[in-house]
Amino acid sequence: MQSAPIPQALREMIEQQAADFAGAALAEAAERMSLSYRAGVAPRLDSALSRAAYAVTRMPATYGALKAASAELPFEPESWLDLGAGPGTAAWVAKCPATLVDSNGGWEDLREARRVHGDLTRLPVLQPHDVVSVCYALNELAERDRARVVEEAWTLAKRAVLVLEPGTTEGFRIVREARRQLVERGARIQAPCPQEGECPMGDGDWCHFAVRVERTRLHRQLKGGELSYEDEKYSFVLAVKGEAQPGAGRILRHPKIHPGLIELKVCGREGLRDERVTKKNKEAWRAARKSDWGGRWEVSK
Ligand SMILES: C[S@@+](CC[C@H](N)C(=O)[O-])C[C@H]1O[C@@H](n2cnc3c(N)ncnc32)[C@H](O)[C@@H]1O
Repeated sequence: MQSAPIPQALREMIEQQAADFAGAALAEAAERMSLSYRAGVAPRLDSALSRAAYAVTRMPATYGALKAASAELPFEPESWLDLGAGPGTAAWVAKCPATLVDSNGGWEDLREARRVHGDLTRLPVLQPHDVVSVCYALNELAERDRARVVEEAWTLAKRAVLVLEPGTTEGFRIVREARRQLVERGARIQAPCPQEGECPMGDGDWCHFAVRVERTRLHRQLKGGELSYEDEKYSFVLAVKGEAQPGAGRILRHPKIHPGLIELKVCGREGLRDERVTKKNKEAWRAARKSDWGGRWEVSK
């Protein structure tokens, strides 16, 4: 599985956010937030306490997911616009100047970035940027507003749009709809899909990936449990203007490893397939041994 180390500076920033509050108050705020997410309702991060709880419990995971998805960018962006930026997670991932838009004025400038106070449903005038991302934010909007935000993201992107949502059936549904809309506007899909036709994922299934993120001491205190890591599941689409280099296939599950046999679920240019790789095919076997959920599968059948 992919993993994303949390930069020391981000870790320190999160600790600083939490330092003003007692552990019990933070844990209570984190619990309220979890309950809200589980009920499918966006939590109201309208106090410094609730924002600190978000930074501690969610930001490492959202950072990890954004980091993993943005590794698929086929170029080095020189500017990045993030819509629904919250604590500015995207600015930690972008290695270039970032502009962060959010309607919650309470988010401090936690990282050197240009902050724009604005509602995604009535975006102020914004300059085009190389990358425009909308991460863990479309699910907080009404269905009718999502399409408008995706449309604006595409218009404002000089080179790429990244839409990322939780790796749930609902998160995937939102991403798939954004993908459909972007393709209709002429986007080329860079990742994760190997083709731009209709998504072949069947009913009841969903395309998602996972990234392993280390849990800080503070995170363990707030959320309980002993594990030193968490696996963040996410769904995403990365659409580009101009030529895409999507690869021949994408591995959609943990490879199943048996003696002399590796089974892979692959999304390829002709749709989904179960691939059974044996030692007989040396090239495929070597690739399969190194393969991972979420990785590209370039070996032709
Ligand atoms: C779950 S947070 C995600 C933050 C960040 N993108 C991340 O990945 O960590 C969702 C953010 O979307 C913002 N948001 C929700 N609806 C919005 C709207 N209509 N206009 C602007 N921002 C909005 C919220 O204020 C919140 O900061």
